[in-house]
Amino acid sequence: MHSGSTTDKRFDPARAERLLSLERYARLQPDAFLRNLGIREGHRVADLGCGPGFWALPLAEIVGPNGRVVALDASPRMFELMLRQNPPAWLDMLEEELPATGLDADWADWVWMAFVWHEVEPASEMAREASRILRSGGQAAILEWRPDASGESGPPLQHRVAAEAVIRELARAGFRDAELRWQDPDQYLVVARKP
Ligand SMILES: C[S@@+](CC[C@H](N)C(=O)[O-])C[C@H]1O[C@@H](n2cnc3c(N)ncnc32)[C@H](O)[C@@H]1O
Repeated sequence: MHSGSTTDKRFDPARAERLLSLERYARLQPDAFLRNLGIREGHRVADLGCGPGFWALPLAEIVGPNGRVVALDASPRMFELMLRQNPPAWLDMLEEELPATGLDADWADWVWMAFVWHEVEPASEMAREASRILRSGGQAAILEWRPDASGESGPPLQHRVAAEAVIRELARAGFRDAELRWQDPDQYLVVARKP
């Protein structure tokens, strides 16, 4: 069960198409972004809160048939849109309610969470689950909206989580070297490694 506040923060599936806008591809350039992060051919990636596949399809392209992408979301609407884009066989779609994932322990080389951390509660459980499913040496990458942003787009400022809070939660869950890897005026990326 969700508390009202958690559900209020959730992205409205009726707006899912917006997550695949050309403007968004041009701005975030997902393929280059993910390659710069260090995701490579053969890696196993859990894309948690995947939405309609803005990141999951480029992830599948990068990891190739020797890798695996599990694209997890609670909304079936997101998978309808993903299926229209002909995902390859090594991209699995998983309907699940975070912070649970149902994935095996030590499975992933990467946990990728784009603009979903602030929608999931409690964050402590999300951090522990990310750690559980990562192999030793695997990394979690959290892309989020800045609470101090001045831009028009994105969720309400009061729903956002500061990078420092994400870093603190990951460190509490046992991650090492949790750091702010990148930021622009609106968004930031935190990366941390499982020891
Ligand atoms: C803002 S969208 C981002 C989607 C995608 N990561 C992207 O950047 O295009 C947030 C996504 O997280 C999903 N989500 C939110 N809370 C969730 C939960 N508790 N369990 C599973 N998925 C959740 C929503 O359904 C939505 O698809």
